[in-house]
Amino acid sequence: MNELGDLYQEMILEHYKSPRNFGVLEDATRAAHGDNPLCGDKIAVTLRMKGDVIEDVRFKGSGCAISTASASLMTEAVKGRTKSQVDALFERFHKMVMGAGPADGLDKLEVFSGVSEFPIRVKCASLAWHTIKAALEGKKDPVSTE
Ligand code: FES
Repeated sequence: MNELGDLYQEMILEHYKSPRNFGVLEDATRAAHGDNPLCGDKIAVTLRMKGDVIEDVRFKGSGCAISTASASLMTEAVKGRTKSQVDALFERFHKMVMGAGPADGLDKLEVFSGVSEFPIRVKCASLAWHTIKAALEGKKDPVSTE
């Protein structure tokens, strides 16, 4: 793997071992569950909105290194953003992991650019994003990456 790839892999492992914003937000105003039926991994996202802005967010669940690191980095990326900003960010992130869009400007989320070479991992990287979108849309039923 090249140097940049090594750096990305290091950051993914670091977030897997020490995930940020891990847990359940007691005063959450929105919540959702998501699962990846391919492997059975599940995640729960709780968040607190202030007006249209995500004031705080947590995630909980057990998953592979990619899904855990992606959830961790997602929580950092969405704090302080509105629902429409999160929608736009996820669209760009999804395009990048599908290999259909550039990584430029995605900041730390760029570490997942290599996922496009492993199609089965796209669902791992997207699980937390599908789940937060469901929370923002007020969906009651668990969402799936399928
Ligand atoms: Fe289950 Fe990655 S293997 S989410």
